[in-house]
Amino acid sequence: MTRGKSVLIGVTGGIAAYKAAALTRLFKKNNWNVLVAMTQNAMEFVTPLTFETLSGNPVITDTFNRTTPLYGTMEHITLADTVDAFVCAPATANIIAKIAGGIADDILSTTILALKKETPKIICPAMNVRMYENPATQDNMALLKKRGFFLLEPEAGELACGVEGKGRLPKEEVIFAQTLREISEKPLNGKRFLVTGGATMESLDPVRYITNHSSGKMGVAVAEELWKAGAEVSLISGKESVPSLMVPQQFVESVGEMKEAVLKTLKKRDTDLVIMSAAVSDYTPARYEPQKIKKEAGDMTLKLKRTPDIIESIRNEYSVPIIGFAAESENIEENARMKLKNKGLLMVVANDITQTDGGFRSDYNRCYFITKENNIELSRMTKHEIGARLAAFIADYYSKKR
Ligand code: C5P
Repeated sequence: MTRGKSVLIGVTGGIAAYKAAALTRLFKKNNWNVLVAMTQNAMEFVTPLTFETLSGNPVITDTFNRTTPLYGTMEHITLADTVDAFVCAPATANIIAKIAGGIADDILSTTILALKKETPKIICPAMNVRMYENPATQDNMALLKKRGFFLLEPEAGELACGVEGKGRLPKEEVIFAQTLREISEKPLNGKRFLVTGGATMESLDPVRYITNHSSGKMGVAVAEELWKAGAEVSLISGKESVPSLMVPQQFVESVGEMKEAVLKTLKKRDTDLVIMSAAVSDYTPARYEPQKIKKEAGDMTLKLKRTPDIIESIRNEYSVPIIGFAAESENIEENARMKLKNKGLLMVVANDITQTDGGFRSDYNRCYFITKENNIELSRMTKHEIGARLAAFIADYYSKKR
């Protein structure tokens, strides 16, 4: 959670203007002070009252409105001075062209021109696909990128005008997460990580499989927090894992598939560190029955065989540092320490699976960071907070190595 940060959201006149309301709410929910500036055209789509109510602040709509002095007499300068981030969502082709041309003909474009060089500026283009692909817009966006603006790519899909194509405003969670990445000092910039998460599935026959209660939330949270800290992340998740909106994610089914995907990724790219948060099955059916197993009278015995240990397979080929996870129901520290040693890990994140207010499927967890030298017990916190702590631990590990 970010405390005490403030963002200026610029809303311009596209149909996606209504989505800026949800974005305002999300920033507020995360304790940001939200200021909203709207163009005249934006007010044709949504009223300032919507944003005033959601942000709890007066909305800036007019350069020369002297009856309600909102943010000082030199409003555009005060605004530009005080905000930690600027987000333009949705950004029309018009505002993009104005920024590129240095035009300042209303309160929003004037404030953008006055923004400090170091203030992160996230521009979220949303428009008809032909307007988006028009060389004028493309050239303007390239210019903005060169000047240090972050251009968030619009999503492809059905546009409000009925046409299929690129031009949809990304979800508010994506815009918010991108803002967090842009305001971060990016301590993991230039690093490449591989994260696994979720449960594997071992098929018995075309209908049944063996799996576990892992939702994949921990893996997604770790991957996204590393990404927010500036890293490049590949995420390999069990087939039923929750999706990540931010990092490229590959879904796999069995332990064998996960092992292949992990080794292939390591072969393809130099990787600085692997984080194995996946709940990998230790056993798989000794035999896969291609036809559905028929029920018979009486009990049945299932023969299982061991699965390959993915960490061991990595170890056999690479010297990359690995952080492992451990789900324990007793003697947590002792067992985790044994794993740390036997598997040659940099750290073990140990979970107490007997906890009732976190763990499997929950957004919360209680865990320990166990290294050779330390045992840090974390209080109950969200999986994203745990991911952020892990990112901080890794950043610290690199700074000490230097
Ligand atoms: O020994 P244990 O299976 O409890 O160790 C858990 C750690 O090992 C986790 O990081 C998990 O992702 C990884 N693991 C693995 N291959 C397996 C089983 C677990 O890499 N077959």
